[in-house]
Amino acid sequence: MLYVANWKMNKSFSAAMSFAQKYKNELSQLSNEKNSIVVCPSYPALFPLAQLFSDTTISVGAQNCSAHEAGAYTGQVSAQSLKQAGCTYCIIGHSEQRAYCHLTDQEISEKLKLLLANNIIPIICIGESEQTYKEKKTFEVLSTQLELLLPQLGTSASVIAYEPVWAIGTGIVPENSYLKTIFSWLKQKKIAHCQLLYGGSVNEKNRDQLLQIEAIEGFLIGGASLDFQKLQKIVSLS
Ligand code: PGA
Repeated sequence: MLYVANWKMNKSFSAAMSFAQKYKNELSQLSNEKNSIVVCPSYPALFPLAQLFSDTTISVGAQNCSAHEAGAYTGQVSAQSLKQAGCTYCIIGHSEQRAYCHLTDQEISEKLKLLLANNIIPIICIGESEQTYKEKKTFEVLSTQLELLLPQLGTSASVIAYEPVWAIGTGIVPENSYLKTIFSWLKQKKIAHCQLLYGGSVNEKNRDQLLQIEAIEGFLIGGASLDFQKLQKIVSLS
């Protein structure tokens, strides 16, 4: 099982550092043959956290990367720099990026290409909005979001996180019957070396119910990952 802690912009540099220092040993114990842990802080904390965790099996992931290799792109961070800073994973296509930064499927596809070229495992986020969910257009949306990405994956290790936008940060989790249809559909795509995660309001109370869906191989956890005790419960009950 793969557990990805997406801290978003919730922890400052100092808060990320003190969390990591305080819980390094416990996090390390949670990360074993059965469970892998990936911590995704904001950019400034990536390098020091990768250094801090270098003698453990805890991985560090970025929350985004540039769609460009290098050049005059003020404020952006390249996949190459992320690799050099010690990132093993990188989230791309998160719905908050799609919404606030008007990220397009084409740009996500460029990001994916650069991550794979730099040997960073992509965590590709897909998911429908509340409106498209209500209009029963989920599969159309997911198909469009994946269209440019799947042909690139080949035999590289990758992660796809299904995160319905209406479940992110809302405390609402879809019914298992709904999730089963989504994950069976994803499974049918038979993407080699791809782990399938669920994300959206995952917590220590709903993780058992979610894990009844066999195809779910881990979680992308936002809010609950900010609190070590909650994260520990989500992981260690597995
Ligand atoms: P949440 O966030 O767990 O707070 O809903 C998940 C995510 O956005 O990745």
